[in-house]
Amino acid sequence: MPEKGMIKATDLFERVVHWMLAGSCILLFITGLGMMFRELNFIGSFMGGLVGLKYVHNFTGIIFIVSLILATRMWWREAGRFEFPDDLEWIKQAGGYLWHVDHVAEAGKYNAGQKMFFLTVVGCGALMGVTGLIMWFPMGLPMGLVRWMYPLHAFGFVVLFAFFFVHLYLGTIGSPGSLPAMLNGWVTRAWAKTQHPKWLKEMEAAGKLEVYGEENKEAVSH
Ligand code: HEM
Repeated sequence: MPEKGMIKATDLFERVVHWMLAGSCILLFITGLGMMFRELNFIGSFMGGLVGLKYVHNFTGIIFIVSLILATRMWWREAGRFEFPDDLEWIKQAGGYLWHVDHVAEAGKYNAGQKMFFLTVVGCGALMGVTGLIMWFPMGLPMGLVRWMYPLHAFGFVVLFAFFFVHLYLGTIGSPGSLPAMLNGWVTRAWAKTQHPKWLKEMEAAGKLEVYGEENKEAVSH
């Protein structure tokens, strides 16, 4: 439950799209690994065998593509473009995660690391969608070209899978206080000040900040 004074970081639509993207992505990881490795074929036994596993994988792919399109539209403005010099400064300091930094470059709604993750999801996600669809429906394309889709699909998987664990860590124990942003949308002011200081200042200056328990904000209903 949110407490008085907490700040609204995400709206319901943003959270639904995030979990559609995350859920479909994780199910694709599991079903994909189940098809790829003989030792993991048993995953199919929960889905009516290997044919069922393939159906679940292919149709989850459609949900992933739809979520990716929605996520790209939704986050592009805040996470798809780097702002200089702050983002470059943040990258040079590795966001203060790896060594001591006196003053970490200020981030807006998303920091440079999150932007890199977002752009990787967009790029590799699109690659997974296109290569997956061509493998599913080769549409009479030359066999030599269709064959390339397999290693490219595997390459996209390796990149996404690696980034996923970094994101999972940073979204939970690595940056305490982040997870509520994607659960109920309410975060503490202290967290917002550390993680997204520029965004906090801009929202306050524009009078758009939703604060839990404050009058004249319809935020409580979300
Ligand atoms: C269960 C696993 C996951 C958890 C716990 C999680 C958690 C979070 C949290 C807490 C945020 C907000 C961070 C902030 O506002 O500072 C976030 C944002 C985001 N998540 Fe996830 N997430 C998960 C899985 C995924 C997956 C699988 C994807 C993509 C395939 C994904 C894509 C994103 C993107 C693009 C953002 C916004 C930009 C960014 O933070 O990089 N998430 N996630």
